[in-house]
Parts: sequence; C-alpha cells; structure tokens
Amino acid sequence: MVKVGVMGYGTIGSGVVEIIERNNSVLAGRIGDAIEVKSVLDIREFEGDPIHDKIVHDYKALAADPEISIVVETMGGVEPAFTFVKEMLENGKSVCTSNKALVADKGAELFQIAKANGVSFLYEASVGGGIPIIRNLSETLTAEVIEEIAGILNGTTNYMLTMMSEEGWEYEDALKDAQAKGYAEKDPTADVEGFDACRKIAILTSLITGRTVDFETIPTEGISKVTATDIKYAKAMGRAIKLIATSVVAGDTYVARVAPYLVPSTHTLYHVSDVFNAVFVHGNMLDDAMFYGSGAGKLPTASAVVADIVEIAKNPGKVIDMSWSDEKLVLGDVSEMTTAFFVRTKKDIAAVKAVFGDVELVTAEGVSGEIGFVTPIISEKDFAAKSSALGDVIGYLRMK
Ligand code: HSE
Repeated sequence: MVKVGVMGYGTIGSGVVEIIERNNSVLAGRIGDAIEVKSVLDIREFEGDPIHDKIVHDYKALAADPEISIVVETMGGVEPAFTFVKEMLENGKSVCTSNKALVADKGAELFQIAKANGVSFLYEASVGGGIPIIRNLSETLTAEVIEEIAGILNGTTNYMLTMMSEEGWEYEDALKDAQAKGYAEKDPTADVEGFDACRKIAILTSLITGRTVDFETIPTEGISKVTATDIKYAKAMGRAIKLIATSVVAGDTYVARVAPYLVPSTHTLYHVSDVFNAVFVHGNMLDDAMFYGSGAGKLPTASAVVADIVEIAKNPGKVIDMSWSDEKLVLGDVSEMTTAFFVRTKKDIAAVKAVFGDVELVTAEGVSGEIGFVTPIISEKDFAAKSSALGDVIGYLRMK
C-alpha cells in the first residue's frame, strides 16, 4: 500500500484527494500497488467533510509517520512550505509540489536535500497546470539545445484577457470570475502583475540550462495596465493581447522577459484562449514543438501532482532527478533586444514622426483625443529613450 500525505487542503490539495479516490483502481493498476491518502495537514478542521478524520495539524507528526512515503505540498508560498518540505525530505519522504514560488526560490536547495536523503522532489504541476512540460523538457527533449521558450504560462490572465476581448467584460469582473473558478493565486497580484509567469519561466530556464535563474532578475510586466482601449486597438490590428513569458538563447546565456504582447492572428499563441496555457519550444535539432492544455484550476493541476506520485510510487528506492544546480545563470541584457512597439500618445503625428521616423498609424473605432502608432523595429534601449523624448505616452505594448 502506497500511503500519501497531503499538505494544504485548498483548491489543488482537495483535487489531489479527489483524483486519488476517483481514479483509485486505475492508479493502483499503474503503480502495481494500492494507494490511499492517509493524512491531510491543514490548520482548518473541515468538520462534516469526509476528510475531517484525516486532518492533522502538526507537520512534524506527518514527517515522523513511517507509513507515509510520499508527501504532496499544495500550500503555496515559500514559507512555511519550505520548512515543511525540507522536514519531509530529511525524513526520507519524496515530495511532489504544485508550488512554483517554492520551486523557483528554493528548487536547487531542495533537490540537493532530496538527493542526500535518497528521495525525489518533483514539480510537474508548478508550470502549465495539467500540461506535461517539466517531464518533457527533462526526459524527452534531452537531445536538444533548447534555444527558445515562449509561453502563455498564466491561466488567470489569459482567461481575463479572453473575457475582456470576446465578452467585453471589465477587468475587475474578469478577475473575480477567475478567482471563483479557482484559477487565481490567493493573492491575485501574482497573476495580474506577471510574478506567477515570471517564476514559471525562471523554472523552465533553470531546467533547460541546469543552473539557477534568479527570477528577480527577469524584467516582468503584467496586465494591470491593459485597458479596454488597448483591446480596441488590438482588434483594429487583427491582433490579441497575450501575457507571454519568453526565454531566448543569447550567446552563452539566455534573455528572459514577461510582458503583454500584441500577437497577430497568424501566430499559434493567438489561438490560445480562456484558461488554456501553451508552451512553444524551439530546439536546435527538433525545430519547433508546442505543448498546449489546461493551465490552471483544481483537477488539471492536481492531475499533474498525482502523475508525480505515480512516477515515484512506480520507482521505489530510486531518486528521480529533474534538478538543476545552485550555480547561478546570469541572464543577458534585455535592453539590446529588438521589437516593434505599439504606442498611444497625446502628441500629434508630426511630433511622433520627428522622434520615431516612419511609423504606421492605427485607428480604433470610438477612440479619440490621442493617436496610436507602431514603431519600426528598435531596441528596448532606443525605445525607452525615444518615448521619453516624445513625452505624453499613454501606454505601449510590444508587437509579437
Ligand atoms: N494562478 C495560476 C494561473 C495557477 O492562473 O496560471 C496555476 O499555476
């Protein structure tokens, strides 16, 4: 019998318990042994819930339980999750987590502790919800130098942008609905300001390079400044606004960024709507591959956690290694990256042309008192200098 402990009975933790119950015989067949959730660590009691009898409050008691061999961490955040996970690993239990904040911040340290204790620390659910991306990068695409990753890695913001564009919803209504559906983080600032996607691209870049990427060094913009007027302009251009996290090889390092982009309808990521995520991968031999699916929410994310449990349970005594080292990867300078920018300004076209040269004007129905234009392809550094020389910039978006 494989006995599992779950830390955190929230959206994802309760999904893990549900999947182990509902798919129990299939899981047992795949593992070759029966599986059950023995204990659930939470500060709450859940009176009246069938889980109530399994609730424990002391993580040390869970760590000391000799019957439990695998522990799931679905609490979120760095602390106390880090302290609890460390304790489980040091007590010889493998850990599966959905917690990207923990993996991005403490991954290298936890991999080392896991190896030292002969157990595994797996994190498939931390990026892309139910999409199998970690195992694919770690085990399937190992013949490749991955030269680029570009992903829609946050379900909440993709859902919000889709609803704002297709249904005309206000930003706040779209956010409330994403929270109600269990897509958003406890503090949705992490979603809308791009911090969640930033941690996810840091994890993917660490995985493909084998070195730790400091997520705090990735320039990150979210969607909180995207307005209904921006969406009107996007539609006028036949484009959609998508929050994209990228990591591109640059010499012997990578350049990474998270920002909202104006994506043309000819681009694959244009068609990734609703809560779906997609991860585009370019390998030097493979060329292009795309991973697409349910990127957030209770059961898709919990499914990836349970897949990690199955992997560990099928390989007793084996350390499943999906690690990177604690050596830092210093990311390249984004200021030399080039792109075209869509800009909104209160200035007139003569002033715009004097600064940016030959621009393409964009008009959107019902928008007046400003002009919208697309710049030639220029570097980030040049754009910053030129937009401050122009002045009166209402907003800008990068063109994909
Ligand atoms: N809040 C995250 C998202 C959950 O919306 O993508 C999945 O990591």
